Amino acid sequence: MKLCMIGTGYVGLVSGACFADLGNDVICVDKDSNKINSLINGQIPIYEPGLSELVIKNYKNKRLNFSTNLKKSVKESDLIFICVGTPPKKRSNTADLSQILNVTKKISLAINKFKIIITKSTIPVTTGDEIEKILLKKNSKKKFSVVSNPEFLREGEAIRDFIYPDRIVVGSNENKSNRILKNLYNPLISKGATYLSTSRRSAELIKYASNAFLATKITFINEIANLCEKTGINIEDISIGMGLDKRIGSRFLRAGPAYGGSCFPKDTKAIISTADKFKTKLSVIESVIKSNENRSELLLDRVYDILNREIKNKKVTFLGVTFKANTDDMRDSSSLKMIPALSKKGAIIKYYDPTGYKKEFSKIKNVYNSDSIKQSLQGSDLVIVHTEWNDFKSLNFKNLVKGKKFIIYDMRNIYSPEKIKKQGFKYYSVGR
Ligand code: UGA
Repeated sequence: MKLCMIGTGYVGLVSGACFADLGNDVICVDKDSNKINSLINGQIPIYEPGLSELVIKNYKNKRLNFSTNLKKSVKESDLIFICVGTPPKKRSNTADLSQILNVTKKISLAINKFKIIITKSTIPVTTGDEIEKILLKKNSKKKFSVVSNPEFLREGEAIRDFIYPDRIVVGSNENKSNRILKNLYNPLISKGATYLSTSRRSAELIKYASNAFLATKITFINEIANLCEKTGINIEDISIGMGLDKRIGSRFLRAGPAYGGSCFPKDTKAIISTADKFKTKLSVIESVIKSNENRSELLLDRVYDILNREIKNKKVTFLGVTFKANTDDMRDSSSLKMIPALSKKGAIIKYYDPTGYKKEFSKIKNVYNSDSIKQSLQGSDLVIVHTEWNDFKSLNFKNLVKGKKFIIYDMRNIYSPEKIKKQGFKYYSVGR
């Protein structure tokens, strides 16, 4: 079986490299020739632990290759994975399917033998039907099958999530393609992964419903954390106590800043727009979106309280600015709301992120990148731990800034309040 991954973004590149590592012959296609040239030279355009090694190893083994020639690559392959982006449309919450539909048209001109066209991109319910219609226009004898196989990879943990998935979902309306896909995933199934075969539309919805549910879980615990702050209760006890109930489960119950990233904010909105299209309501998800959008304001208000509402000329340090650890991704990170708001009120901001300088802050007044944690802390009045990077978890602030005392606002609850207070620092965290 020869595999073709269309789109070498996050999903396509990680999945392509992992499929190659399982022994498949994979070609990754992208229209961006700079990206393809970089990949050929072993330069990986995204930050993802372990990905670089996997790409280089499999490229050398000749199991993984790169090309800008979509037509030729599709012709030579049996399984075509569509992995292009589905960003929100401008001024609307609907997923923009233009990249998916463009790629489909190109595929339709390159079907020379039976092929399975598989969507890995997150696509609204019924997109598979639309893809099928486009392909039928040029291939009325139907030498193809359209399958939905959503990805459940977390940024920063994507390779692990690919190799040890909780489940592999394949939505197909035909047994033949289902059998072929099951065979492709057999190395993972034989190591314990659950394989779930569904209808195509079900697979499309499983992806959105899963992301919306996880976003709901986080938002739920964030609101409970607000209640904990008012009642002198420790949110960590609540998360543990709830999580021990197997019906609830302990994961994704960490209170913190508003959830961000390239998926939850976009997918929660897109599922609402699908519900609108089919004239039904998802009121729980609607309130999750609203609560999450208000969360940065809420945490900012706490920052203002901590600074006694005197923000002008206060020196504020951000430790971590990405939306989560182990990624350089800034998309929908809550720091993008907090840093400009603090700057507007006259604060002077230094940030340190293990993934370095962020162009997103280049035009914001009085925002400076620091090259080291130590440098970022010099002269600070308030240190905000925004992202839970391991680099921050064992810091000894006392040794780092001899003599100088600042306030710490740990938005990820990575420190023990007792230990930090023992070092002589005033300490705030979330929900405790
Ligand atoms: C998410 C899903 O977890 C993946 O399963 C899915 O495949 C992916 O979206 C996608 O649709 O492509 P990702 O966006 O990489 O993955 O990040 P998560 O680890 O899910 O975190 C999302 C946000 O929730 C982050 O801002 C994170 O800090 C926050 N979060 C997560 C919490 O605040 N608390 C938690 O307990 C967990």
